[in-house]
Amino acid sequence: MQKDKFTVLDFRRKKDAGERITMLTAYDFTMAGIIDEAGIDAVLVGDSLGMVVLGYDSTLPVTMDEMIHHAKAVRRGVKKAFLIGDMPFMSYQAKPKDAVHNAGRFVKEAGCEAVKLEGGRVMLPQIKRIIEIGIPVLGHIGLTPQSVNKFGGYKVRGKDDDEAKRLIDDARALQDAGCFAVILECIPRKLAGEVTAALNIPTIGIGAGDLCSGQVLVTPDLIGYFNKFTPKFVKRYADIGNVISEAVKRFKTETETGIFPGEEHSFK
Ligand code: KIV
Repeated sequence: MQKDKFTVLDFRRKKDAGERITMLTAYDFTMAGIIDEAGIDAVLVGDSLGMVVLGYDSTLPVTMDEMIHHAKAVRRGVKKAFLIGDMPFMSYQAKPKDAVHNAGRFVKEAGCEAVKLEGGRVMLPQIKRIIEIGIPVLGHIGLTPQSVNKFGGYKVRGKDDDEAKRLIDDARALQDAGCFAVILECIPRKLAGEVTAALNIPTIGIGAGDLCSGQVLVTPDLIGYFNKFTPKFVKRYADIGNVISEAVKRFKTETETGIFPGEEHSFK
C-alpha cells in the first residue's frame, strides 16, 4: 500500500484530531487523477454521474453497470485517496442479498474500498450485511436524492422537530451498525452540528454547514463545468464551462480562417 494512502481508519483519526475531512466526486480517469494529486482525502464515484455526466433528469435511472464503468476509470486515476462507490437506485433497496452482491461488484470489479448508500434505520439490514462481509459503508441521510419523488423535490430536510429527531436517531443507528462516516445532505447547520456532536464517527456535509467533520461537493458544480443549475450550497471555485466554450470557439474560428494548424503543429 502507498505510504500516504488514506484508509478507512483515517476518517476517525481526523475527526478525533479535529482535522476536517475533504471529499469530492469523480467520474473519469483524468479528473480523478487531478483530485488525487491535489491531496483530497476521499473520492466518491457518485450516482450524481446520472445528472452531471450522463444527462438524466435525476439519479434514478443510473444502473450498476454505468456506475461500475465509471468507477473503474476513476480507480485508474486515484492512488492515495480513499475510493468510494455510490450504490445506485434499486441496487440495494429491495433486499440485503442484492445489496451485498452489488457492493461486492464495486470492490471486485472496480477496486473501490467502500460503498455509500442512502437511508437511515430502514436500510440497517442491508448496511449490516455489507459490513459483515468486509466492505466499509458510508451512510447518507437528510436530502437523499434517490427519494426525490417521496420528498416532492430537492428540499432542505430536518426543518421540523420531528424530522430533526428522526435524523439524529438515524445517524446514531448508522454509527451503531458500523458505518465509518455519514453524509449529511441539505439539513440546517445547527442540526448538522447536533448530529456531529452526537456521533463518534465523522459527518461529511453537503449543504449542511460548517459544523460537520468534513465536506463533500460534486466536482462539476465546484468547477463550473455543470451549469444546468447550481444549488445554493455550492461554492464555485472556477468557471471551467466558459473556459472550454472560449477554447472551442477559438478552435472553430482559427480552423475556418486557416490560422490552425500552424507550421509548429505540422510535420516536415
Ligand atoms: O451522488 C453524489 O455525488 C452524492 C454526493 C452529492 C454526496 O451522493
